[in-house]
Amino acid sequence: MHVIRGKAIEPLFTAEMIARRNVELAAEIAKGPTHDLLVISILKGSFIFAADLIRSLHHVGMAPEVEFITLSSYGTGTVSQGVRIIKDIDSEVRDRDVLLIDDILESGRTLSFARDLMLERGARHVSIAVLLDKLNKRQTSLSADYVGFECPDHFVVGYGMDVAYAFRELPFVGVVTGDA
Ligand code: IMP
Ligand code: MG
Repeated sequence: MHVIRGKAIEPLFTAEMIARRNVELAAEIAKGPTHDLLVISILKGSFIFAADLIRSLHHVGMAPEVEFITLSSYGTGTVSQGVRIIKDIDSEVRDRDVLLIDDILESGRTLSFARDLMLERGARHVSIAVLLDKLNKRQTSLSADYVGFECPDHFVVGYGMDVAYAFRELPFVGVVTGDA
């Protein structure tokens, strides 16, 4: 257990576990569709995972173009949820293989939106890499091609992920278990 700024945080996936898994994921990604590969990091939550995974891709001999898109969900509760673009990519997508990187696959709405958007823009193939998969929260038929870890149904922070804008800087993924 870590005590960070008055909160008790229980580590779920340590920095070492994540680093090892990134190497494995990069080896898997290298075997997939990589024609004129465009890697798109979905902000904000995926920025640390994407940075590490992209460096692991370099170590397996890949040199993708790297882009960023900021997406946001809207609507809560009974209101049907949608996703909107806060900041778009600049690059051409047509006839390229695209790899979307996100932190967590939960309902699947964010990544379904992003995948459909890239397919509409003429991507040849869109694959999806996520650090964490919360399988029992899915509201769509979406599945990821590359998954770091299956995640229990807890709200997690760290390694890019926040709660109320805090804890993105932690080098591990953990659960806030209370005040300490
Ligand atoms: P989806 O559209 O429901 O799949 O939403 C997934 C997005 O919700 C992720 O990209 C995260 O930004 C956010 N999210 C879901 N669960 C968590 C969590 O446990 N911690 C932090 N962010 C989360
Ligand atoms: Mg996100």
